[in-house]
Amino acid sequence: MEMDKKGKILVTGGAGFIGANFVKFLLRSEPRARIINFDALTYAGNIENLSDVLGDSRHEFVHGDIRDKAGVGAVFARGGIACVINFAAESHVDRSLDSPDSFVQTNVLGCLNLLEAARRHGVARFVQISTDEVYGSLLPGEAAFTEESPIRPNSPYSASKASADHLARAYHHSYGLDTVVTRCSNNYGPMQFPEKMIPLCINNAFNGRKIPVYGDGMQVRDWLHVEDHCSAVWEVCRKGRAGEVYNIGGACQTTNLDLVRAILRECGRDESLVSFVKDRPGHDRRYAMDFTKLNKETGWKPRHEFEKGLADTVKWYSSNKGWLEHVSSGEYKGYYEKMYSNR
Ligand code: NAD
Ligand code: TYD
Repeated sequence: MEMDKKGKILVTGGAGFIGANFVKFLLRSEPRARIINFDALTYAGNIENLSDVLGDSRHEFVHGDIRDKAGVGAVFARGGIACVINFAAESHVDRSLDSPDSFVQTNVLGCLNLLEAARRHGVARFVQISTDEVYGSLLPGEAAFTEESPIRPNSPYSASKASADHLARAYHHSYGLDTVVTRCSNNYGPMQFPEKMIPLCINNAFNGRKIPVYGDGMQVRDWLHVEDHCSAVWEVCRKGRAGEVYNIGGACQTTNLDLVRAILRECGRDESLVSFVKDRPGHDRRYAMDFTKLNKETGWKPRHEFEKGLADTVKWYSSNKGWLEHVSSGEYKGYYEKMYSNR
């Protein structure tokens, strides 16, 4: 795909964990990139994540909701959007088990609003950010998921993400919109909301609180540093073939229990903080991604080695205790209003 050099990139969900890392990655690595960052600032969105790029003229933050068709339409109607990268989503499996409704509203209907606007406004490329979880669960010893693996989502979260993947495919097939879907494994790194396993574990370890390990802790996840995810998304955006799906993975399968042990060691705590709790309903046992296709077509592979990446991540949270405190206390919720009430 030849992207119009003058066009802007609409990044949705760019105040969340991966989106904010992506916005910073792009501003760092592509001096000519111009970004519109469209985010509803839900509980997971944090304007503090963007404090160092809010003054960058190449980055414009727009407070908006992808569920709002008129709001989405208004951003596209300004013209000049060459590309959409849709990170915006409800992203936490446990929350999807409590209230699936908002997952369908944002992850499915919100994505539909974006696809429709992209089609109407002749956008050159639409990248849908998806997840390994759409493939369901692997048995021990079973080969990693490829792009040909059947779609078998097991949680309301993964079912909503799978639905959006299908819509992206259908918009390509039916209307010729240039869509690509990326499916990535579990991410870790700076600015992840501390409801997710790694930052939750780090935060609790810092404070001497118990670490809740679901079930027997032998579930396996394939961890990837968020910066490697960002570079993979950008490779796919520039070089991926229209209508295709690309798996992204870390080649790093670890049980939850081993992960918790590694974090406790890094934080100077012992295993007495491990607390086995009731398992998550329908908990997927194992994910693993085969990313041969992406590697063959673009040369991408993960750069961050897990042990070092994890140690650096613990250091980041340790050096940014203020960030953790603001998020834990809810103080971060008022930042956007405070920042803009004086204008
Ligand atoms: P996150 O929950 O940290 O951030 C989500 C962002 O989307 C927040 O800034 C939030 O304010 C915004 N948002 C939510 N609903 C919105 C709406 N209706 N309109 C506009 N903005 C809205 O999520 P994340 O971990 O950064 O994940 C980003 C994307 O990557 C998601 O699509 C997720 O499914 C996918 N993904 C995540 C992982 C992971 O390990 N975190 C792995 C694979 C794929
Ligand atoms: P999570 O970070 O929620 O990501 P996902 O569910 O998308 O994989 O969880 C990672 C793994 O850690 C998953 O197997 C669930 C497990 N987990 C716990 O054991 N305890 C916890 O408190 C959390 C949040 C997760």
